[in-house]
Amino acid sequence: MTYAETYAAWKADPEAYWMKAAEAIDWVTPPSKALFDENAPLYEWFKDAEVNTCYNAVDRHVDAGRGDQVAIIYDSPVTDTKQKITYSELKTRVASLAGALRARGVEKGDRVIIYMPMVPEALEAMLACSRLGAIHSVVFGGFASNELAVRIDDAQPKAIIAGSCGIEPGRVVHYKPLLDGAIEMAAHKPEFCVIFQREQEVATLIEGRDYDWHDVRDGTEPAECVPVSGDHPAYILYTSGTTGQPKGVVRPTAGHLVALNWTMKNIYDMDPGDVFWAASDVGWVVGHSYICYAPLISGNTTIVFEGKPVGTPDAGTFWRVISEHKVKSFFTAPTAFRAVKRVDPQGEFVKKYDLSSLKIIFLAGERADPDTIQWAEEKFGVPVIDHWWQTETGYTIAGNPMGIERLPVKIGSPTVPMPGYDIQILDDGGHPVADGELGAIAVKLPLPPGTLPTLWNAEDRFRKSYLDTFPGYYETGDAGMKDEDGYLYIMARTDDVINVAGHRLSTGGMEEVLASHPDVAECAVIGVTDQLKGQLPLGFLCLNSGTEKSAEDVCKECVTLVREKIGPVAAFKLACVVERLPKTRSGKILRGTMVSIADGKEFKMPATIDDPAILDEIAEALRRLGYPNG
Ligand code: COA
Ligand code: AMP
Repeated sequence: MTYAETYAAWKADPEAYWMKAAEAIDWVTPPSKALFDENAPLYEWFKDAEVNTCYNAVDRHVDAGRGDQVAIIYDSPVTDTKQKITYSELKTRVASLAGALRARGVEKGDRVIIYMPMVPEALEAMLACSRLGAIHSVVFGGFASNELAVRIDDAQPKAIIAGSCGIEPGRVVHYKPLLDGAIEMAAHKPEFCVIFQREQEVATLIEGRDYDWHDVRDGTEPAECVPVSGDHPAYILYTSGTTGQPKGVVRPTAGHLVALNWTMKNIYDMDPGDVFWAASDVGWVVGHSYICYAPLISGNTTIVFEGKPVGTPDAGTFWRVISEHKVKSFFTAPTAFRAVKRVDPQGEFVKKYDLSSLKIIFLAGERADPDTIQWAEEKFGVPVIDHWWQTETGYTIAGNPMGIERLPVKIGSPTVPMPGYDIQILDDGGHPVADGELGAIAVKLPLPPGTLPTLWNAEDRFRKSYLDTFPGYYETGDAGMKDEDGYLYIMARTDDVINVAGHRLSTGGMEEVLASHPDVAECAVIGVTDQLKGQLPLGFLCLNSGTEKSAEDVCKECVTLVREKIGPVAAFKLACVVERLPKTRSGKILRGTMVSIADGKEFKMPATIDDPAILDEIAEALRRLGYPNG
């Protein structure tokens, strides 16, 4: 079947389409139907089924006689370690950790926070939770204590599983003190913690609360898979919204299994036994879906890579991994390629490796710029496929379905909607616009299986954030257009979210931190264009009158404050002091106009601006920071 036929088949009978896809999953009790729409506009999929995620990701491959196949390859240039774990070994390891968690009281529905670096034990912790029907919430290692504390209070975990440390080039990230600080800060206290001690830093354990990863198993029985209902949350993953309070995206168990399994063949063209590598981090949705769950559910080998595209040890490290482990499909963010291209524009490192196993490169996480795509196409001689998705959906909204049909690539477009997604471009009044016109990108409800049914303990916020603006649609928060062939173009966010090195960050969250500085009266954070990271946050600060500190000192303190409160991942290093912020007469800060000035773009003077002269001051402050062209 062609893409057009597949998409038409889904549209004609979504129920039959997803029930067919569901046949690839091993159910304890199969679903009686796919869609449950009695609470529309809240929808659920395969709700009356009973199933276990870990069984489908691990045990079923062992039961099918493929236990000796490698499930996980751990490749860590920062610790000089390589390790292979077969499906049989994975089953033993996960069952034993799950048994240890259960012995300490973790049961179906309990939350468990996971705060770990890129080691296979992070995947084992996720799978051990899903084995028990416990709901994990992985927190990215680049977040500081305060962010971890916010998530602890929201998820109210019974247990926390953490690594003793992470390793960034040139420094050890002390996870354990960050964890201790977060638990102290949080109102909710976990009953216990399990600490995976790494030889690079052995952490001090708190008697009675912390257990060593290995010791905690003493005297406990391995756990079997616990069946859960189809709508049971598999995990919560927090993502940035418009405020500092992150949104807890809920992933429903059955839809997650069906949809992810579907994507591995249809989008990534992977067959069981093939090696798949997503060079991301378990703390992000890409890591959840494509380092952990999808490759394992579909019986592939997945790679856990602990390193960076450059400097660990060089700009050839990705190509070494692909060549050594015979990766067939490789998935990364455009920013990672830009980092490599900057160091090795001629692709000298590419030539050093036999990359004959590599068939397709996939890019996501941010807009794929034409230069990067063309560079990769030229250097690797394989299709370079952009695809667009979000934490909320967990997998591709629009892409090029390589296992169905390879559609012609139009550079700048992530191609076309996947089955399940009826994408419309809407004007402010919620009416579809003509092809080629910009608008808000929305998806006609219901969203397909596996996408978020709600936000954790925040149904009102779910409705307000995604459903209320355009009744009958899911609001993606992205703006863009469709061309006459139905190809999509993702141009910008419609909210205050920015994308820094493929990481989704809230400028509103950063503003909340800056506003907490005692000398800051008012502030605004914008995302300025950056050659390497796509965007960088830049803060404008208005100081309280009578402040004795110099502007320079306040800026430095604000940079430190964001690093301490949100974490290094915010990459907040640019701040300047201005007398006033440009506003409309009704008091709305003109962030978009400031972005245009910083990026050196033409802009139309907003008709409602209160005092146009302020823009000259903004331009002068930006010039001092080196912008435009900073
Ligand atoms: N734990 C602790 N700190 C972390 C971290 C982690 N897991 N990940 C990043 N950080 C820190 C970095 O060390 C850096 O700290 P610094 O300010 O002291 O230098 C800071 O957070 C910013 O990190 P990052 O934005 O990643 O910048 P970088 O300069 O270290 O690396 C790239 C730049 C482009 C190489 C890197 O961002 C990259 O590989 N990006 C790919 C992104 C990706 O895979 N995204 C997933 C979506 S598909
Ligand atoms: P996250 O939830 O962290 O995956 O971030 C999702 C957001 O990243 C989307 O809403 C887009 O703004 C952006 N994004 C992800 N993939 C792409 C892509 N292929 N092209 C353009 N923007 C993208």
